[in-house]
Amino acid sequence: MSRTHLITGAGSGIGLALARALRERGDTLVLPVRSQERVEELRGEFAEPGLVVLDLARTDSLPEAMRQAHLPGRIDTLVHAAGVVELARLGDSAPEAIRSQVDVNLVAPALLTRHCLPALRRTRGSVVFVNSTAGSVANAAWSAYAASKAGLRALADSLRAEEAEGGIRVTTVFPSRTATRMQARVHEQEGRDYDPDRFMSAESVAATILHVLDLPEDVTIPEVTLRSR
Ligand SMILES: NC(=O)c1ccc[n+]([C@@H]2O[C@H](COP(=O)([O-])OP(=O)(O)OC[C@H]3O[C@@H](n4cnc5c(N)ncnc54)[C@H](OP(=O)(O)O)[C@@H]3O)[C@@H](O)[C@H]2O)c1
Repeated sequence: MSRTHLITGAGSGIGLALARALRERGDTLVLPVRSQERVEELRGEFAEPGLVVLDLARTDSLPEAMRQAHLPGRIDTLVHAAGVVELARLGDSAPEAIRSQVDVNLVAPALLTRHCLPALRRTRGSVVFVNSTAGSVANAAWSAYAASKAGLRALADSLRAEEAEGGIRVTTVFPSRTATRMQARVHEQEGRDYDPDRFMSAESVAATILHVLDLPEDVTIPEVTLRSR
């Protein structure tokens, strides 16, 4: 039976690889993107009305934006793949960079999950949080990003405990460095040359998420960590 998947961050990288794989199956996709301009850019790839505008950095207006987006009443899968990173030591971090990482990587997933819970309960659906190995080990210059991801893990753990009885499965995926636009930017911020061949692909992370979404009804994977071979 065709399933409905709501995936953030489907405009590039891991979210895009996942959305493409699910589209191949003929499933229904709902893809929040940050602006109408992004809707226009992604129209060639994904058909409307699946593309909806939700700027995940604007957490103050997100609850109202979600109401206006008329998200489906039944959702089988909610995947949080959107994310941002700005490397800097805390003392050098711009306040708005700290805030935007916490907003996009933590507050928005909390608000979106909260909004979608009734629709997920109807299907006994799955929520997948794309976290990061930085969510469990925080190195220098990664403070705001790592803090946002550590918080995201806690959010997932709490949600899993709260919704287990209602049948919602919650999984946190911890990829290490993955060859995407984000990783190219991280290398730029680290002042290093970027060679995508050194890292696992977005498709490999997406394949792991697909595996989680395709699990038999009687089993769940709470957490999975991915490392390059
Ligand atoms: N790449 C890695 O090495 C790595 C490692 C571990 C974990 N992760 C995590 O994996 C997830 C996916 O990242 P990626 O590597 O695939 O990076 P990516 O290619 O940069 O994709 C990030 C996505 O997030 C979206 N996004 C950012 N800010 C947004 C906003 N305000 N509103 C709506 N959407 C927004 C972007 O939209 P636009 O296209 O409009 O910018 C983009 O589609 C992230 O959560 C990241 O933290 C990545």
